[in-house]
Amino acid sequence: MQIRTMENKDLNQILAIEEKSFASPWSREAMEEEIKNPLACYLVLEEQDEVYAYGGMWMILDEAHITNIAVRPQNRGEGWGNFLLYAMLEQAKKSKMNAITLEVRESNNIARRLYEKYGFKECGRRKAYYENREDALIYWNVFREEKK
Ligand SMILES: CC(C)(COP(=O)(O)OP(=O)(O)OC[C@H]1O[C@@H](n2cnc3c(N)ncnc32)[C@H](O)[C@@H]1OP(=O)(O)O)[C@@H](O)C(=O)NCCC(=O)NCCS
Repeated sequence: MQIRTMENKDLNQILAIEEKSFASPWSREAMEEEIKNPLACYLVLEEQDEVYAYGGMWMILDEAHITNIAVRPQNRGEGWGNFLLYAMLEQAKKSKMNAITLEVRESNNIARRLYEKYGFKECGRRKAYYENREDALIYWNVFREEKK
């Protein structure tokens, strides 16, 4: 398994995983923009040209914001989410981020457990954030307190 940054050649597979994973999947155009976005960092887990998982974040000033993370359905529960999230946290720390945040559906217990395992703490809520009016929980993981 190799981990590397997302490229245009990955998009067919990534969009197929998006469709199966999210009620409002990202479009090809949005993903193409992310590949060009200098503030975005998308990582892909790939073996023999097969994409197993991907995750992205924006890095703005000293804060990273995870935009999406997904493992292809037939390979969930095999540790790839662990592997990917760990790599994303390492990347954020290497890029001198002080903290990382994300939103997650309140009902997404699997993702919430994954985030909590890596030190994310629930810090807030966005009411009716999703298309079905479900609330988003806001999680933060602070690596370093900002020096005043
Ligand atoms: C959330 C997701 C990325 C996790 O990836 P995964 O490869 O299935 O997870 P892993 O096998 O690496 O497990 C990582 C942790 O997730 C949690 N987890 C995984 N499967 C679980 C299950 N069936 N029940 C409860 N917790 C579970 C556990 O905390 C697990 O840690 P452990 O191995 O120490 O028990 C994956 O399920 C996914 O793509 N879901 C759909 C998209 C999504 O919801 N993304 C998150 C949006 S915020």
